[in-house]
Amino acid sequence: MIEHLFKKMDQGAALFRNDLVSLLELEDQDAIEALFKKAYQVKLAHVGNRVRLRGLVEISNICIKECLYCGIRKGNSKVCRYRMREEEIVDGALVTWKSGYGSLVLQAGEQQSEGWTAFIERLLCRIKKETRNELGITLSLGEQSRETYERWFKAGAHRYLLRIESSNRDLYSKIHPENHDFHKRLNALNDLRKIGYQVGTGVMIGLPWQTTGDLADDILFLKEIDVDMVGMGPYLIHGDTPLARQCPDFHHRKSHQLAMGLKMIALVRIVLKDVNIAATTALQTLDPKGREMGLLAGANVIMPNVSRMDYKPDYSLYDNKPGQDESSEKSFEILRQNIEAIGETIGFHEWGDSPHFLKKA
Ligand code: 5AD
Repeated sequence: MIEHLFKKMDQGAALFRNDLVSLLELEDQDAIEALFKKAYQVKLAHVGNRVRLRGLVEISNICIKECLYCGIRKGNSKVCRYRMREEEIVDGALVTWKSGYGSLVLQAGEQQSEGWTAFIERLLCRIKKETRNELGITLSLGEQSRETYERWFKAGAHRYLLRIESSNRDLYSKIHPENHDFHKRLNALNDLRKIGYQVGTGVMIGLPWQTTGDLADDILFLKEIDVDMVGMGPYLIHGDTPLARQCPDFHHRKSHQLAMGLKMIALVRIVLKDVNIAATTALQTLDPKGREMGLLAGANVIMPNVSRMDYKPDYSLYDNKPGQDESSEKSFEILRQNIEAIGETIGFHEWGDSPHFLKKA
């Protein structure tokens, strides 16, 4: 059965939903290792072994949304809210540029107002100018109107990350309040593509109620909507959220969550081939070497956190987020050594755009 699936992958044949479910349910360690090896070959063939870096600045934790799993949801009154000042964010961009990371990600909780739109617009123009247009810029600022996305694109952002969280509508509605609309999110992804952004989306892995069938559907969904970048990671509990309270019996097993996260990366690489795939911080939360494991399972992007130390603890999406207590420079030095130790190289001073996107252009 499994041999048959490996043969199918070797021949480059399409994997069906049932095939993906069987592969996601692999328990045998040798078979799992073989899956990661296969994904790594596909990665080498389509995107190479150069790790793409994006300096991540978490510019604000103010959020209008109430996602039931997220630590910075509006209703969490324990969070100390902040919005970085323009000067501080520009400093973060300059650090990213001078460190040679090549690209920057500006991420924040969701805000929708003319003031916020204009603030980001101004910021993008400044960063473009002060880094001599040498930094690639990705935004991860939630759902916005098409006009807002257009203004930010014109100001210099060229990639956008907006996770669908789950492609199963029922599951989506279980982990979000009633006023969160799955279709609105799909439309936002569509708007971004039409405007010309490289579009990234992804899901959380190992959510309560989620089945391997759901995850197989997620992979097929990513393929179908033709994404350029994938950012996904294991669901991690945040104690002060409704989802944690609602599912008190849901104790995820770390090793299981990690294994599922890595299998998802491997299968997305095998099915989608030439997209950029991030090895996310959520993997690192489950294992200090989680991101490096992600690279070996098919990921090719890492987003080192360059946020200032004093803001880091307040951007707590889930419990035990790593790197809170050490400087960004120190974290990066360790990361760099680990990446070199697994035989990968780092693409310094490059935007590292999605090969999938560039082929379409
Ligand atoms: N566990 C894992 N990922 C989470 N995110 C938010 N909360 C959690 C959590 N508890 C992810 C969501 C969101 C991204 C910014 O962080 O997928 O899109």
